[in-house]
Amino acid sequence: MPEPRIEAARLWGWLMQLAQITEPEAPWTRRAFTPRFAQGRAWLTERMRELELAPGVDSAGNLLGRLPGSRSPERCILVGSHSDTVKGGGRFDGIAGVIAGLELAAALRASGQRLRHTLQIADFLAEEPNDFGLSCIGSRGIGGALEPAMLERKSPTGRSLREGLAEVGAPPFDPHGARRDDIAAMFELHIEQGPVLEQAQLDVGIVTHIVGIRRLSIRFEGQASHAGTTPLALRRDALAAASHLVLALREALPPPSAAAPYVIATVGELQVVPNAPNVVPGQTRLTVDLRSDDAASLEAWSERLRELAQAAAAAARVRLGELRVLSASEPTACAPHLAEHLRAAARALGLKQQDMVSGAGHDAAFIARVAPAAMLFVPSRAGLSHCAEEWTEPEELANGVAALLAAVLRFDGS
Ligand code: HGY
Ligand code: MN
Ligand code: MN
Repeated sequence: MPEPRIEAARLWGWLMQLAQITEPEAPWTRRAFTPRFAQGRAWLTERMRELELAPGVDSAGNLLGRLPGSRSPERCILVGSHSDTVKGGGRFDGIAGVIAGLELAAALRASGQRLRHTLQIADFLAEEPNDFGLSCIGSRGIGGALEPAMLERKSPTGRSLREGLAEVGAPPFDPHGARRDDIAAMFELHIEQGPVLEQAQLDVGIVTHIVGIRRLSIRFEGQASHAGTTPLALRRDALAAASHLVLALREALPPPSAAAPYVIATVGELQVVPNAPNVVPGQTRLTVDLRSDDAASLEAWSERLRELAQAAAAAARVRLGELRVLSASEPTACAPHLAEHLRAAARALGLKQQDMVSGAGHDAAFIARVAPAAMLFVPSRAGLSHCAEEWTEPEELANGVAALLAAVLRFDGS
């Protein structure tokens, strides 16, 4: 029986076909829980049907296809990532890992070879921030971290996450049903989303740790007033407070150092009320995206953030109306034995590799709560991601998927 082989042209063709399913005004955009996302899901479901993977949606909204194993079908090797994007995102973030799963199934089908384990291909629901303010919704479900209370979260249009799950075809949510204990190994191929592999001219990165992410919502409450008649000294300008916090946070963050934990924070989302050119802002709400590979640092910097927010409020004579955690994921170590399979596979293929920490969050971090999980990175041109310029070369992607296939075969046979 011939060895399963990756077909680079099929892989690239699928990736570019899925990319065409985007909001036309902001390529490339396919946000979770939108009609465009549903179109992408329908396209993936069709590909899974063609590969006879009996696609279905689990109660946490994950699209899953399966290739039953020959020896231990009750245990599975889970390969996947996410097909939803950020607004104006790229064609590779998440999608590369879902298409990689399809390609593995196609290569196995074409060779007639069956794994001992069942191979499950996954498109995890809503890895990116979305209207429900919760990321990694599908992989949280599998990892047993999607609590029933989270399903009552409302979107700005008043839809509950429970309704959102029903819209993507999920059966009624049962916390115990979504949590899985049949996964022998999980592999996620992902673009690096940073400059390390390209700068070092490497083919693949083997992820040792995934950062934990804490997203906090902060609201400043001042007083809207007339832009022309309110003296500066009497203003209670909520945007001045937000601006003060953004710059104070940048000043406070430690420079990267091998000796200390990795800590980084970003304010990428800001609402101004009433957001009018001739009104002193009465209220601002911002989201801080705080990350570290060290749990204690995440805790400490959440506290530090509260101090900085209080100082910013005082400086602008406004009130700190709210500071609350929107979503949290813990720093996660990848499974060493699976990382070793990835290293050996890359070596056997003559690929240049290095170990690295992921500064991006990933579904693998939630699957790692219930199963050994590992990640493989492929290069991102100029380190760009979460933007239309996101790019990975066809042969870089094919190299990564070949290494993924080889690692899955090694694990399955071990
Ligand atoms: O934000 C992240 O780290 C991931 O790309 N969603
Ligand atoms: Mn992303
Ligand atoms: Mn991603």
